[in-house]
This record gives sequence, structure tokens and C-alpha cells, in this order.
Amino acid sequence: MKDFVIIGHKALTAADFSLNDLPGSAGRMDILCRCINSALFLSYGMRRDINVHLVLLGEPDPSKILRFSGEELRYLNPDERSSGSLIKKALEKDATDFETRSTPGVWIRRGGLEELMQEFVEDSRKIYYLREDGEDIRNVTDLAADAVFVLGDHMGVTEEEEGIVNKGSSGTLSIGPLSLHSDHCITIILNELDRFEQSKKN
Ligand SMILES: C[S@@+](CC[C@H](N)C(=O)[O-])C[C@H]1O[C@@H](n2cnc3c(N)ncnc32)[C@H](O)[C@@H]1O
Repeated sequence: MKDFVIIGHKALTAADFSLNDLPGSAGRMDILCRCINSALFLSYGMRRDINVHLVLLGEPDPSKILRFSGEELRYLNPDERSSGSLIKKALEKDATDFETRSTPGVWIRRGGLEELMQEFVEDSRKIYYLREDGEDIRNVTDLAADAVFVLGDHMGVTEEEEGIVNKGSSGTLSIGPLSLHSDHCITIILNELDRFEQSKKN
């Protein structure tokens, strides 16, 4: 599995938002919805080897982690309302320290970046922090097929969060010279991984 972690600094932690206003009433949930789409959808199918973890830090009940598991996911269509509606259903559940499944492939629990990173470290996963001034991803010759990639949202990643990620990180990667939207970064990272894996087969 490959895992993507996206930090939603303003993303609502309750279900009382409108699917018609994901950027406003849901605290830029539109960004997270697009990240889900970029990470999971192929033209005619779905990437089944991907987990997307959304760390929701917004009001009224932070923080919560939603996990979209490509392996089990159902009822997701490639539009923002569809992912927004699965997020809303998950937020209707009582979140505890243990994952609860809301719909097939969507899980919710209470928790934050620190717990999530600790779990990846305990599982000996390679964690990469994505930042504009990191090492060029094309220079990394040993990208693990089960790597974890951590990205910020429109607010980036705070210093405190960077400290948490860097504790267990195998490196900071850049995918190019310009600052891109988080969902576009995911598309590019996956394309790099696809090409890398293809080149190993040839
Ligand atoms: C829209 S950008 C954040 C912009 C934010 N205003 C800031 O200054 O941090 C969202 C996230 O995408 C990732 N990102 C954007 N461009 C990147 C690049 N060229 N290389 C690596 N990661 C990038 C970073 O993780 C960033 O936090």
C-alpha cells in the first residue's frame, strides 16, 4: 500500500456543512475532496493500493482522522460532492480512538498527525514530507512501493507539524520548482511512482 496524508487545518469536524458549499461552510473541504479523487481514481477504475488519510483540524471537535481505503472503497464517484458526501456520512458517526467504518472503505477515528506518524514509524514505513524546496523526487532512486507522503493544504504545513513529520521522515521531497495545489501534487507523485515501477519491470 501507498499512503497519502493531507492536513486539513480548517476542515470541519462535524457533519453540519452543505455539500453545495464545501470551500466555505466545510472549511476548505473541497481541497481534501480533490485529493481523494487524485489519489484514488484512474480513467476507468480505482487505485486499490492506496490509503488516503485526512487529518481534520477544524471546529467544532478537532482532531479526527478519516481514512479512505482504495482496497475496500465503494460508492465513490469522481466529483467533489461524492467524496464530500462520504466525508459527511463519516462525520455523522461518533469518533472514538478506534476506527469505525461509516461506508465501505471509509473509516473515522479520533486522532491527529502525531498518532498517525507514530503508527507509520512503528510499521517501519518510509515517510516523505512534500515541500517545494525539498530534494527532487526524480533524484530518489529507492522510492519504496509502500511509501507514505505527507502534504499540507492551502495553509501549507506549520512548523510544529513539520517537527512531528520530520521525526520519522526519510526525507523532504519536491516535485518541481513551483508551488502546486495539493491534489495536483498527488497526481504528479503517483505518475512518478507509476513510471518508476514500470521502469523496474522493463
Ligand atoms: C498549496 S500548497 C501550500 C501553499 C501554502 N500557501 C504554503 O505556503 O505552504 C499545498 C501543499 O502541496 C505541497 N506542495 C506544493 N507544491 C509542491 C512542490 N513543488 N513540491 C512538493 N510539494 C509541494 C506541499 O506539501 C504544500 O504544503
